[in-house]
Amino acid sequence: MATKIYIVYYSTWGHVATLAEEIKKGADSISGVEATIWRVPETLPESVLSKMQAAPAREDHGVITASDLADADGILFGFPTRFGMMAAQMKAFFDATGGLWHTGALAGKPAGFFFASGTQGGGQETTALTAVTQLAHHGMVFVPVGYTHGAGMFAMDEVKGGSPYGAGTFAGADGSRVPSEAELALAEHQGKYFAGVAKKLKAV
Ligand SMILES: Cc1cc2nc3c(=O)[nH]c(=O)nc-3n(C[C@H](O)[C@H](O)[C@H](O)COP(=O)(O)O)c2cc1C
Repeated sequence: MATKIYIVYYSTWGHVATLAEEIKKGADSISGVEATIWRVPETLPESVLSKMQAAPAREDHGVITASDLADADGILFGFPTRFGMMAAQMKAFFDATGGLWHTGALAGKPAGFFFASGTQGGGQETTALTAVTQLAHHGMVFVPVGYTHGAGMFAMDEVKGGSPYGAGTFAGADGSRVPSEAELALAEHQGKYFAGVAKKLKAV
């Protein structure tokens, strides 16, 4: 039976959605893995989203409900930074997982994170670290990417998001920056690395 990886994200302006696509490419490159991208439900009304000039919702990515998580063998959660932690839309989704928590349905499943922030120093690492509480309460196994992507992670010659905690990108203060090649490569690598770990854990 295939190892099912769910890539579950929230994105207002599309940066996190772009990383999700790269992560899927990496996960799908592992034989016997089936990766699916899901959006969490939006909590803001259309009137507010249009004032924020939000990107159109990615209709090619289905909207997940909390109970769907139980079907996954591993889950990568992606979200933008809001004041140094995950966006409220993702937190609202986690808050809807109380039933799964009650039955321990997610306990033992591997999970990881990817993220976007406006700027360097804007809180990519605090965003990942503060999200770990969600996994801890569910008994999920945090699988960070570490330095498994190799020498490029140490390079200091260009601005780039991402860290041992997961893939990341900087949107820029006005949101106009797009994910760089290095950021996309880390995202693809994270998908591949995470899927490999999830596959091994499923086989145990
Ligand atoms: C209310 C709000 C709070 C934000 N807080 C931060 C922050 O603490 N640090 C930061 O670098 N960027 C911050 N940003 C910028 C977002 O993180 C950035 O727009 C987002 O990562 C882009 O991802 P997306 O295109 O997937 O929505 C904030 C944006 C908003 C709207």
